[in-house]
Amino acid sequence: MTVKINENYLLLESNYIFSEINQRVDKYQDNNPEAKIIRMGIGDVTRPLPNAVINKFTEAVVEMSKADSFHGYGPEQGYDFLIEEIIKHDYAPRGINLSKEEVFISDGAKCDTANIQEIFDLGNTVAVTDPVYPVYVDSNVMAGRTGPMGDDGRYHNLVYIPCTEDNGFVPELPEKSVDLIYLCYPNNPTGTALTKEELSVWVEYARENNSIILFDAAYEAYIQENNIPHSIYEIEGAREVAIEFRSFSKNAGFTGTRCAYTVVPQELIGFDNNGNPHSVNKLWNRRQTTKFNGVSYPIQVAASAVYSEEGQKEIAESIDYYMNNAAIILESLSSLGLRIYGGVNSPYIWIKTPDDMDSWKFFDLLLDEAHVVGTPGVGFGPSGEGYLRLTAFNTLENTKEAMERISKLSI
Ligand code: MLT
Repeated sequence: MTVKINENYLLLESNYIFSEINQRVDKYQDNNPEAKIIRMGIGDVTRPLPNAVINKFTEAVVEMSKADSFHGYGPEQGYDFLIEEIIKHDYAPRGINLSKEEVFISDGAKCDTANIQEIFDLGNTVAVTDPVYPVYVDSNVMAGRTGPMGDDGRYHNLVYIPCTEDNGFVPELPEKSVDLIYLCYPNNPTGTALTKEELSVWVEYARENNSIILFDAAYEAYIQENNIPHSIYEIEGAREVAIEFRSFSKNAGFTGTRCAYTVVPQELIGFDNNGNPHSVNKLWNRRQTTKFNGVSYPIQVAASAVYSEEGQKEIAESIDYYMNNAAIILESLSSLGLRIYGGVNSPYIWIKTPDDMDSWKFFDLLLDEAHVVGTPGVGFGPSGEGYLRLTAFNTLENTKEAMERISKLSI
């Protein structure tokens, strides 16, 4: 007997980008034990969970220790107490009405954005912006929707929408009609944002072409400017064409705690091979109830504390802290004459490499000579070549130190 593997996995790059970086940095540290490495590569937060969150989290853990307040399996879709807070605080104030059945609590936007594709047919044409959060691409590769990668670094059956300096990082509508469209705004990795008008163009496109937009809004808490939508549902007509992913990771420090949610409006419809309409919400519900057993009770209680007055105050402080780091990075690097983007409505700063150096070369230069870790832009797709991403998620001290070290390089 021989077990056959899912050969689609062989079409993937051998390592996930952040694993590749970790391996390289660990090797560098082994060879250079004295180097004080500052990690500004993966977008992981450094500030601890807010006190309001920890207090509720602790209380909920104690509840689990007593027979009369113990919680076993919860609803796969999440507890009402958290869903109600989400609707009340994240949507209602923006004039968006959601029902409880439209919000699904999960353990991460990464998992949800990776899993969502499986409720759609393999024959759908998928579009991604380029550069892109690699999870959208890899999960479609694993499913068998993309075909092999060409010499140009692009999978044959994916539609890539370049976002570069040339178009001001604003994705242009594809020439050929596409079915599923991944958009992440504020964007990972470029840190740029779309205005309401720019996002409306995509909603209109999706409505005209019967497409569905998979909108990743994991970084919405970092939006500082007025005309930038926090939710795609701020755009009229989006409920019929968009699924939205949100996370507690980047706003409230849940990267290691794990809690997120996905909004699937009741109006969203997909079709079977006979042209009959089906509710996408029902399909996602069916998927989640089979494959997911819900986020643990203490973590959902902890997440609900994000919406308390104290919680809101604390997360606003953390976001200010990280955005102050972003401002320091922007100022330091632009004074070196580098061309830099993002960092205004996002914790990511997207740097054009000096002298058109390739991304990995610039990564090596920063690691070797400044002991600073970034993420090579090409790791996010072919249009990321010639760029490097830094995050504002480190401490203030490390951010300042990293900028001092970089400013001493001859670039
Ligand atoms: C990143 O660095 O791009 C993020 O950590 C991605 C993620 O949240 O998984």
